[in-house]
Amino acid sequence: MRKKIGVIGAGNVGGTLALCIVQSGLADVVLYDIVEGMPQGKALDILQGTAVTGVTSFIYGTNNLEDLAGSNILVITAGVARKPGMRRKDLLMVNADIVGGIVKTVSQICPEAFYIVVTNPMDVMAYLTYVISQVSRQRVIGMGGILDSARFKTFIAMELGVSPKDVETIILGGHGLYMVPLVRFTTVKGVPITKIIPKERIEALVQRTREGGAEIVALLKTGSAYYAPAQSTFEMIKAIILDEKRLLPCSVYLQGEYGAVDVFNGVPVILGKSGVEKIIEVDLTEEEKAAFENSTQEVRAMIDILRQEGRI
Ligand code: NAI
Ligand code: 2OP
Repeated sequence: MRKKIGVIGAGNVGGTLALCIVQSGLADVVLYDIVEGMPQGKALDILQGTAVTGVTSFIYGTNNLEDLAGSNILVITAGVARKPGMRRKDLLMVNADIVGGIVKTVSQICPEAFYIVVTNPMDVMAYLTYVISQVSRQRVIGMGGILDSARFKTFIAMELGVSPKDVETIILGGHGLYMVPLVRFTTVKGVPITKIIPKERIEALVQRTREGGAEIVALLKTGSAYYAPAQSTFEMIKAIILDEKRLLPCSVYLQGEYGAVDVFNGVPVILGKSGVEKIIEVDLTEEEKAAFENSTQEVRAMIDILRQEGRI
């Protein structure tokens, strides 16, 4: 039977993601949004594109959450995006209400689904999704690390004039300013970047990566990045549907891994048909451990606000 992906939120990320999925031919899509007509219009437009390229995936747009029934994966992109001057955490309460309300309903409609959470502040929204849906921790996965790694790889590739395909890196931590790029595990075809890029340039590239989302917000002025975020989310969907066993940086529920308990944060995981099949723990230096702990604290502080405000 064909796989079905429910894309919740048909805005910039959701709409672009729907196009990626449909044009891959990997699965059918139900595109949901609260705005009347918009998901239907985008879905029809994307469907007409299949007549051009000849792929056989089907897409349907709706304002009815019930239509998501039978989805194998639900991708949550509904919410408000950043505007210039806003931090991801400025979106906390408004997006918590949107995501919380949706998950309450869809967890009844799609009890077997995996959740991929994109809405910001993503690590906190993933936690909220996990708590409200009450599914196993293998089934709730936040998207952030793939995008952050892609940005770091792009900047390194631009610096050296090489293909980003030949750059490898690991970024730990939350999708925020406290992300933890692991420079000592960053290579170009196996050559450590510390051997080929001066220290101060590496520091500048790390800083540009930390602020990679804000850089695009400042340029776009009306919203935030969506092409690379949609591609990054698609990699996760593909890994699950095709059981690829990809090693990808994702935000997952931690139960002691990397010294963190009862919190979501970004770590390398194996993604396959069972969702998060394994969390990979790499030995960190004392400095890296402290940086990861800072990042965990940033996520935890926002979870605490949701608790105080009675959202979880
Ligand atoms: P957007 O504004 O283009 O789309 C959001 C969509 O959500 C809109 O179509 C809106 O109508 C819909 N929506 C709002 N309330 C809803 C509700 N109650 N039910 C259903 N739909 C609802 O925003 P964009 O650019 O697509 O970003 C979406 C979210 O993803 C934002 O929170 C953004 O910050 C986040 N994001 C996260 C990234 C990550 O790496 N984790 C990367 C890029 C964006
Ligand atoms: C980004 O990093 C806004 O989180 C989004 O582009």
